[in-house]
Amino acid sequence: MNKKDIVRIILGGKTISAKPSASAFASSNIALCKYWGKRDEELNLPVTASLSVSLGHLGTRTKISISNMADRITLDDCELADEDPFARRLISFLDLFRSPREKYNIETKNNFPTAAGLASSASGFAALVIALDDLYAWHLTKKELSLLARLGSGSASRSIFNGFVEWQRGSRDDGMDSFAQVLAEQWPELRLGVVTVADEQKAVGSRAGMRRTTETSELYRSWPLQVEKDLRNIKEAIQNRDFELLGKTAESNALAMHATMLAAWPPLLYWKPETVLVFQKVWKMREAGVPVYFTIDAGPNVKILFLENQLNVVSKNFGSMEIVTPFS
Ligand code: DP6
Repeated sequence: MNKKDIVRIILGGKTISAKPSASAFASSNIALCKYWGKRDEELNLPVTASLSVSLGHLGTRTKISISNMADRITLDDCELADEDPFARRLISFLDLFRSPREKYNIETKNNFPTAAGLASSASGFAALVIALDDLYAWHLTKKELSLLARLGSGSASRSIFNGFVEWQRGSRDDGMDSFAQVLAEQWPELRLGVVTVADEQKAVGSRAGMRRTTETSELYRSWPLQVEKDLRNIKEAIQNRDFELLGKTAESNALAMHATMLAAWPPLLYWKPETVLVFQKVWKMREAGVPVYFTIDAGPNVKILFLENQLNVVSKNFGSMEIVTPFS
């Protein structure tokens, strides 16, 4: 099975009549229980399930127009060269859906620093799939949109939804049971603070990082067990509004993921010295009785987890952070 087979299954029989242009927004998301490792690289099928919360106003807006010239891709107002890795990834994704003669003009804008450890590919591919659905009037269900977004980037399957979102591992070889679903629960008091310690492009992208970890890290063997336990605890924490359980599970899950990376060869360390200083500050605040936790993806930036009633003390400690209200 390849991506094209899956697109054929999902879109089979749908008439292709494009309108001139369409645009869509998708929120980025941050996993509280991470996706790290694939059981199928072609279809982005994960080794484990994962669970995220979406980042509200932080995300990607993508406009797509049919063009009769060559493909043109603009990211944050800069036109990308054909050989740019992101442009190539986008173009090979778009090739799954179009006839060879059809060209596109794509304008995509992230309202957060690209490659800053916020999943720009998650909201990017989700926004693109939603825009394509509108462009071609496919009227796909959210489940189908999630399956298609997953083919672009695993974490994009979760960015089709808002709120707490679980991406099922699934067990089928064609991945038709590996899509995201939204959880019924909301948590309006939950806040996330994005502490940006560096906004340069990371040296090893998550795709390559995952591959290196699954292929060389002995510690990775225990990762599925960790996820099984953490997913159970996070769902329980959400159901019971138990912030301490949510925070400590998310923090420990992120650190366990980074432990599998450190045990890879060559070792993978996405942190900067400033990243560790943020961890230490969070731990110090907890020692002083402030309920605050963190999570971190494959990058140097840290996301602080806290509740609305701690906003003042958290803001005082992390001056320049972007505050996100996932359930606004
Ligand atoms: C650490 O979804 O970017 O952010 O499927 O190869 O595109 P690809 O990977 P991607 O990986 C995200 C990894 C993570 C954890 C997570 O978001 O669950």
